[in-house]
Amino acid sequence: MNYKQAIDHPIFKTIGNAADELGVDCYIIGGFVRDYLLKKESAKDIDLVAIGSGIELAKKVAERLPGKPKVSIFKNFGTAMIKHKDLELEFVGARRESYQRDSRKPIVEDGSLEDDQNRRDFTINALAIGLNPHNHGVLLDPFNGIDDLENKIIRTPLDPNITYSDDPLRMMRAIRFAAQLNYEIELKSLQAITENKERIHIVSKERIVDELNKILMSNKPSIGFKLLHQTELLSYILPELKALQGIEEIEGQMHKDNFWHTLEVVDNIAKTTDNLWLRWAALLHDIGKAPTKRFDKKIGWTFHAHEFVGSKMVYKLFKRLHMPLNDKMKFVQKMVLMSSRPIILSEDHVTDSAVRRLVFDAGDYVEDLMTLCEADITTKNPRKQKRYLKNFQIVRQKIIEVEERDRIRNFQPPVSGEEIMKVFNLRPSKEIGIIKEAIKEAILSGKIPNEHDAAYNYMLQKGLEMGLKYSKK
Ligand code: CTP
Repeated sequence: MNYKQAIDHPIFKTIGNAADELGVDCYIIGGFVRDYLLKKESAKDIDLVAIGSGIELAKKVAERLPGKPKVSIFKNFGTAMIKHKDLELEFVGARRESYQRDSRKPIVEDGSLEDDQNRRDFTINALAIGLNPHNHGVLLDPFNGIDDLENKIIRTPLDPNITYSDDPLRMMRAIRFAAQLNYEIELKSLQAITENKERIHIVSKERIVDELNKILMSNKPSIGFKLLHQTELLSYILPELKALQGIEEIEGQMHKDNFWHTLEVVDNIAKTTDNLWLRWAALLHDIGKAPTKRFDKKIGWTFHAHEFVGSKMVYKLFKRLHMPLNDKMKFVQKMVLMSSRPIILSEDHVTDSAVRRLVFDAGDYVEDLMTLCEADITTKNPRKQKRYLKNFQIVRQKIIEVEERDRIRNFQPPVSGEEIMKVFNLRPSKEIGIIKEAIKEAILSGKIPNEHDAAYNYMLQKGLEMGLKYSKK
């Protein structure tokens, strides 16, 4: 079949001609071909395989390009890269690979195009299009990758046990592609992933997290997490989530399965935000429930302080997975810690003071918190669902009103510590903290408005109560 249209960019003619001049064949392969066939916006990083030296071909191509761009050579990998306009052209010689048990680094030998296609992860990633004049635009699809694209199947070119055992990162990639593309993983492949699951330990945490992030950023992340669960990879990667799975019953009382609930929450939030960290927060919002689960004869199942415990677990989890321990993590922690606040608030009559406290504690993240809590509504009772959503609307509206009036979001004490010291003739001492806290409390509870004069008078009153003398000037 001819796929000339896929390669109508003039660069591909240049590469084909350069390859002919060197007397080698060259193919475009991998993600670019797959994405073209999926009618997705074509990738900017383009993998090119030469039946010969990829590095020599890259040099030849660079000579033919205007401005003779630099060729970055990675001798150890036998690859070369050229940046041309917004494209990154990655050249490699066709290779045959063999792997050892304890490493993802293969032993590499020169090979044919077929060898090269064989060593690839999935049939849909092994499609190649010829670039030389004699086969320009000809598709080479030895494993029926086209059929797999049509039937939405993830399949390996070789026996899946070999493909996954060779490079266990591919287990994560299979699941990630299934989530991104909404594809099925072939049964044989799923079994092989399950069998090879413990080999995930030779994959770096960073690569695992890359794939987890891609799963989380897909339209329906639950597809990926269900597969991680089904293949038991989840126990190796995110045991905290695995621990949420299951329903216990004591004295006829059951609690919900918090794993499946979490997946619903993640799917819900995927519809309303592209913020990766908010999606992480949705994934982790209930992790404190496994270690805090208790059965109380009077009140049934409880998960006391699970939000606090969960937010502490976020740190450990991020550390273990070599994720950033910066403001992103703190954001996730904050979301987990506060994840029940708007729900509790909306179950009751929504008071201004409760909203002020919420805004004070959540600060700039209050909208994100509301988004998380709305996603957390997974009740199958339509009446309840309607009521919760309506109450959250009220909370959102009140947040706007209260903020307009009271400016709580980036709260600055209306009376400074220095002013308090001056008025009461105090040296730095705990009294100042007590007065400041009292003023803040009075504002949040609605006793006084968030204004200097009202706060000043309140300070005088509080000082008097504490037996302080103020020095009138
Ligand atoms: N590949 C592989 N095994 C891996 C990683 C990659 O066989 N563990 C092969 C696949 O043929 C893949 C190509 O190398 O298509 C390029 O890899 P990469 O750029 O990482 O992935 P893409 O398939 O382009 O997809 P994405 O950019 O979404 O990761």
